[in-house]
Amino acid sequence: LPPRVLVTRQLPGEALDRLSRHVDLRVWEDELPPPRETLLELVRGMDGLITLLTDRVDEPLLAAAPSLRVVSNVAVGYDNIDVAACTARRIPVGNTPGVLTETTADFAFAMLMGLARRVAEADAYVRAGRWRTWSPTLLLGADIHGATLGLVGLGKIGAAMARRARGFGMRVLYVNRQARPELEAELGLRRVDKATLLAESDFLSLHVPLTPETRHWVGRSELAAMKPGALLINTARGPVVDQAALAEALVQGRLGGAALDVTDPEPLPLDSPLLTAPNVLLAPHIASASHATRGRMASMAADNLLAALEGRRPPHCVNPELFS
Ligand code: GLV
Ligand code: GLV
Repeated sequence: LPPRVLVTRQLPGEALDRLSRHVDLRVWEDELPPPRETLLELVRGMDGLITLLTDRVDEPLLAAAPSLRVVSNVAVGYDNIDVAACTARRIPVGNTPGVLTETTADFAFAMLMGLARRVAEADAYVRAGRWRTWSPTLLLGADIHGATLGLVGLGKIGAAMARRARGFGMRVLYVNRQARPELEAELGLRRVDKATLLAESDFLSLHVPLTPETRHWVGRSELAAMKPGALLINTARGPVVDQAALAEALVQGRLGGAALDVTDPEPLPLDSPLLTAPNVLLAPHIASASHATRGRMASMAADNLLAALEGRRPPHCVNPELFS
């Protein structure tokens, strides 16, 4: 019998057609994720799961799916998955690094520019019929060239952001667990401590995974230590920022603005103070959302899943110790 596989949403590209030739495929067709109770029923008897960051994969879910042999997440981040619980059950977990790097950095830079130069406000201004004349004081924003960009995290996406920033004539500082001397030399970056990064950055952009160490990395004291009027860009994960403290800093005018592709929670509730705070640019977690990249992410998730079902190590596995 072919292995049984659940995919928790429709996916773009060729992945589902290809999977259906190898496995007994069940695809959750709704626009919204399966509710938790439904998911716990659907996973029963499954050999493989293709999940999204909206699906929580934890011990109760694994217990409901005792025949499970692989979890393949269609995302580079995998904070929705209890990897230790999967490892304890000898279940490999796949993710999709690499293919979304440039697309995600493109969008992070778009958010940076959109916030600095007030693109969304300008569009709304014209549509509302408020454009009456050219004005020397209309919709003034911040310069990007010559400004200092602070990167929190210099992994693949952080490095791609640094390349873009150099092309725009920015000075780039970073913090990262490890020094990246080759990138420092290539791009003229400078590794600094957290206090320097916060004090000197005109733009602070987050490129770390969500872990216990990065949760609320930007909290009340960090916001207070940031350069007055600085702009925050978050395309990583919402909980890397203490959102209540962020809303306060924006309302008080300490911070110049924030561009958020990710929030805590998602979706952002319509009564969130961020929706009425000044200078906030919002997007619904779409940084990797190009046609090509979302197709590649789905293909990569299919490759990871099929490898594990054949007993091979998934090409991109976050608990590779299972195969050593
Ligand atoms: C999206 O947020 C991802 O982690 O790929
Ligand atoms: C963050 O991206 C790190 O590697 O420390």
